[in-house]
Amino acid sequence: MKNYKITVLGGDGIGPDVTNEAVKVLDAIGSKFDMSFEYKFALIGGCAYEKFGVPLPDETLDAAKNSDAVLLGAVGDWKYDTLPPAVRPEKALLGIRKGLNLFANLRPAVVFPELASSSTLKPEIVSGVDIVIVRELTGDVYFGEPKGVEVQNGKRVGFNNMIYNEDEIRRIAKIAFETAMVRNKKLCSVDKANVLDVSRLWREVVLEVAKDYPEVELSHLYVDNAAMQLIRDPKQFDVIVTGNIFGDILSDEASMLTGSLGMLPSASLSADGPGMFEPIHGSAPDLKGKNVANPIATILSAGMLLKYGLKNDEANDAIENAVKKVLQDGYRTADIMSDGCTLVGTSQMGDLIIKNL
Ligand code: IPM
Ligand code: MG
Repeated sequence: MKNYKITVLGGDGIGPDVTNEAVKVLDAIGSKFDMSFEYKFALIGGCAYEKFGVPLPDETLDAAKNSDAVLLGAVGDWKYDTLPPAVRPEKALLGIRKGLNLFANLRPAVVFPELASSSTLKPEIVSGVDIVIVRELTGDVYFGEPKGVEVQNGKRVGFNNMIYNEDEIRRIAKIAFETAMVRNKKLCSVDKANVLDVSRLWREVVLEVAKDYPEVELSHLYVDNAAMQLIRDPKQFDVIVTGNIFGDILSDEASMLTGSLGMLPSASLSADGPGMFEPIHGSAPDLKGKNVANPIATILSAGMLLKYGLKNDEANDAIENAVKKVLQDGYRTADIMSDGCTLVGTSQMGDLIIKNL
């Protein structure tokens, strides 16, 4: 039997509510697939700031580094909105991404047929949507230097640097092509090459990498057009690859095609160390501890942890199928509730998924 070390970072708000359910599901998966999990629970975000004065304590980052995979809930709370930027919960996210070198962020946007009507777009536009956004996560204007706010000639000036070197572009492009290869072999690279030099390099390097993947049908879109096409006809996309800031924006847009933020998982991967797996949704502090949050995104993130982190596709399939079954059987948490369905709480949803594994 294989034993894995998992660092669980519940974080703030509903984070711990949903990671608890994912841990329950992992344990059930363990007994079915002959593996066991040893969990290390650590603090991140506002709860870490309250205890240690920093949102990402060294011991949290060390625990993460020394594990096989990291499961994260969510960070942030309105009560931390007035903290100085350096200790805001968001800073912890950026810090752990950089600390674990998580350069590749996979964000699937899949519309479950049962939930097609919860999108704000017409069901015929969104039903069948199955997209993966591959977002670069450790570069771009998020981390570029120089940056800051200064007084220049008596005026305050704020600046950041949108910067990529060719190696950073090449490694994310490779991940995107590999992702396309195991899907429908269509890749759309999104940039702003009509205006930005950094995007011109992006496009050049993506075209170089494309030579190693002749089977993948590659296209390029400017980011403004991509934003429009995602709403006009999302089914034209299979895999999208883009930089950090464009990916941040487009992945929020794509998530709304599905109408149910509570359903979307994500994976952040490095070249060799542990990956981090988390729901796309935020910490929803008003719902904390009330047993109403939807744990499905986090449970599906645990599925991605099994698939991408521990290379066990079957275990992930079991989780995905169990989630589909529970939805088919008409069980819903409040965020996805509709007429004729059965309303359940966070922990009941976890139990139902376990029953269907
Ligand atoms: C995300 C979030 C983060 C980001 C914030 C919270 C720092 O929006 O994961 O998409 O901008 O990357
Ligand atoms: Mg975002």
